[in-house]
Amino acid sequence: MHKFDPAKAEKLLDPNRYHRLKPDILLEKLGVAPGGTILDLGCGNGFFTFPASAAMGEDGMVIAADMSAEMLQLLKDRNPRDNVQVLQVEEVQMAVDTESVDGAILINLYHEFNNREDNVRELKRVLKPEGKLMVIDRAPDDNDASGPPNHHRVALETARDELERWGFSVTLNEMYTEDSWMILARREV
Ligand SMILES: C[S@@+](CC[C@H](N)C(=O)[O-])C[C@H]1O[C@@H](n2cnc3c(N)ncnc32)[C@H](O)[C@@H]1O
Repeated sequence: MHKFDPAKAEKLLDPNRYHRLKPDILLEKLGVAPGGTILDLGCGNGFFTFPASAAMGEDGMVIAADMSAEMLQLLKDRNPRDNVQVLQVEEVQMAVDTESVDGAILINLYHEFNNREDNVRELKRVLKPEGKLMVIDRAPDDNDASGPPNHHRVALETARDELERWGFSVTLNEMYTEDSWMILARREV
């Protein structure tokens, strides 16, 4: 499956992207209270990790997890706070305790999974019962030359049905920005 090229990492921190995706709104919608634990899977160089770390406070934690050592090094170069645990993960497995996470977020990652069912089931394992999952990704669009190649993108309806099939209850699914959809789901007990 198509994987993100770390040479393009700088683009992820473009101020226009913050303006479009609004991490504060994402945090509000994810709804994990300060002191909780958020898993930022496919965190890259930390677009969401840093706002999440500020929001969780010193009693909370953000697990910044990615497969790419290069992307994680870029995140570390930005000096995350002590409440950020930087974690290199395998394609599917992650060294995260079972039922330890209050909320997980995947931004522009779902289309990069090699086996989406295995990844979703691994997310289900690490989330607490009724833990929350937020997935954001670029909608297929033949006319959009930016972002992931169109043939790798996953439609909102496909992702929604998959999450429902693999152990989540979808509570919201909508276009969040002009080009990206959002799904919020709760782990079924
Ligand atoms: C397009 S970048 C998005 C980074 C970040 N979420 C953001 O929105 O700025 C996708 C990231 O997911 C990582 N990735 C791809 N497959 C992964 C997997 N199975 N598990 C964890 N990380 C993965 C890539 O290394 C890359 O850093």
